[in-house]
Amino acid sequence: MRDMKVLIVGSGGREDAIAYKVKQSQLLSKLYCIPGNGGMAMKGEVIEGRVNDIPQIAKDLGIEFIIVGPEAPLVEGLADKCRKYNIPVFGPDAKGAQLEGSKVFAKNFMKKNNIPTAEFYVASSYDEAINYIERYGLKAIKADGLAGGKGVVIPQDLESAKDTLYRFMIEKRLGTSGERVVLEDILVGREISCFIVTDGKDYILLPSAQDYKRAYDGNKGPNTGGMGSVAPIAISSEIESKIRERIIERTLEGLERERIDYRGIIYFGLMLVNRDPYVLEYNVRLGDPETQAIIPLIEDDLLELFYETAVSRLPKVDIKIKPMYSCCVVLASGGYPEYYEIGKEIFGLEDISECIVFHAGTRMIEGKFYTAGGRVLNIVGIGESLESARKKAYKCVSKIKFENMFYRRDIGEGVKDID
Ligand code: AMP
Ligand code: GLY
Repeated sequence: MRDMKVLIVGSGGREDAIAYKVKQSQLLSKLYCIPGNGGMAMKGEVIEGRVNDIPQIAKDLGIEFIIVGPEAPLVEGLADKCRKYNIPVFGPDAKGAQLEGSKVFAKNFMKKNNIPTAEFYVASSYDEAINYIERYGLKAIKADGLAGGKGVVIPQDLESAKDTLYRFMIEKRLGTSGERVVLEDILVGREISCFIVTDGKDYILLPSAQDYKRAYDGNKGPNTGGMGSVAPIAISSEIESKIRERIIERTLEGLERERIDYRGIIYFGLMLVNRDPYVLEYNVRLGDPETQAIIPLIEDDLLELFYETAVSRLPKVDIKIKPMYSCCVVLASGGYPEYYEIGKEIFGLEDISECIVFHAGTRMIEGKFYTAGGRVLNIVGIGESLESARKKAYKCVSKIKFENMFYRRDIGEGVKDID
């Protein structure tokens, strides 16, 4: 397939990073983005449209391939609809997206397929959940459905566990997503994110990354979508083999057994406990901001890789990864992840030459950029060592300004290999 018209669905830093790489492909003729952001507006044509209308919009524009960035449209069945319109799409169908869309589905899937994960119990009512923790003690609490990163709580004591259950199951703060909860053993260890590209039969392991979920330095403050990331994280071959054999391969076998035709990304959120990997969660899309650190390291044509995956022809070869390190620092609006203001003019972008800038919550109006979200920009430094990548990233960060901007100053500090 040559001269492809391609649509990217999404509006975050992850999607701008995908757009950056797709834009470099020889196979691209024109790039469209729905709903896009200020960065994507410089790479392709940003168009408006609701998720439900995407297949028809794509047909009308002669779009030949769709890449879906975020999870929500996948869980809602966007990939199924596009396939009905005979448009190849990168992303699982609604059944496959249940790996992320329902924690109960994911946990039962892992149990059935002998995939290591924390012991768990599913509670369908508040009373049932309270009885369980009173009897068995403190557990991680996970709302069943999508919750935009707000659905998992690791409580410090029984009182706060009960408060969380009250908010999820009685006050219904997460809507229907919190009607059922998974209560699972709290694991202690080292966390790591692994990503595969798969067409359901074969898979390619992408470089591993680490994200920084807490808002403030030293991993303090509230959880966010991610305030920075680094890649690659070196993993010893012993641990990589365990991840491949016990987790990735069993997951793909399980999907095949359940006749789930999975074409896209599987993101494994793992915890290493005494050198053994356990799955904390599956996601059915790339991580944000992990993607912003990983994509600049990929040498291959990402559009070709994603397209071949979508048409079930994933090549049986590994991709080429540059022998470099990347460090991504997120610039956020003051107040994020709680209330924040938008519409602030962003200064200094034109002075950045040493780093890659991926936009997230930005808008371009008459050639100027304004903030339009909580996470605003991703500044990515690339270097021959993590330290040089980090230095570059922070040097570029110091050139950018907008009112109430904040960021973490410790991204990439003290990162250890996994051996
Ligand atoms: P999840 O969305 O399931 O990845 O959960 C969000 C975060 O909660 C993870 O990245 C972990 O830091 C933490 N977490 C989830 N499950 C557990 C668990 N069973 N034990 C300890 N921490 C957990
Ligand atoms: N960075 C975590 C996520 O994308 O879910």
